[in-house]
Amino acid sequence: MSIIGIVAVDRQGAIGRRGSIPWHYSADLKFFKQQTVGHACVMGYRTWLTLKKPLPNRLNIVMSRSAEIEGQESVIVLRDKLSVLSLKPYLACDLFIIGGEQVYRTFLGEIERWIVTEIPLAVTDTDTFMPKDYLQGFRPYSSQELEENLKVTFYERGEKR
Ligand SMILES: NC(=O)c1ccc[n+]([C@@H]2O[C@H](COP(=O)([O-])OP(=O)(O)OC[C@H]3O[C@@H](n4cnc5c(N)ncnc54)[C@H](OP(=O)(O)O)[C@@H]3O)[C@@H](O)[C@H]2O)c1
Repeated sequence: MSIIGIVAVDRQGAIGRRGSIPWHYSADLKFFKQQTVGHACVMGYRTWLTLKKPLPNRLNIVMSRSAEIEGQESVIVLRDKLSVLSLKPYLACDLFIIGGEQVYRTFLGEIERWIVTEIPLAVTDTDTFMPKDYLQGFRPYSSQELEENLKVTFYERGEKR
């Protein structure tokens, strides 16, 4: 069981604009699904609000200090990082940290691997960014081209080569 950060980042480190993701790459959505199905996905309440329904075939763990979400299958609301990490010994799947910025920041010290889609754009008016040093202490170990100009890099903890 691993804790894995998964994110799509533009050329300036942006991940969002006005509460949503300011690009659409179906190859990346398909890749995200492929990676996360059968696992647990941890998201912030704002990211939860961008979904029309829970991510299917995944345990949806929504973080919020106070918001209530109506009970529904495969969705749990947890109030803090410790509550999420307490699940770790009992999960028979990986724990994907799927954003947004606040939640990535919350788990920076715990994430063991990053899966980063490099969006080939410099989007204007973005307001949500990855922390500048989020890949510090990680090294790339694999990459994949989802389509022309759309690359994913896999990182693990370890010294840079
Ligand atoms: N490009 C990508 O891969 C990607 C992925 C995901 C999201 N996004 C984008 O990122 C943006 C949202 O990011 P964001 O940083 O504004 O919001 P967020 O992290 O999605 O959600 C923030 C909320 O989550 C709760 N939360 C966060 N940290 C917590 C903690 N440690 N303990 C308890 N609750 C916690 C709080 O909810 P309460 O206020 O209810 O307490 C907080 O207001 C959107 O634009 C979204 O589209 C991009």
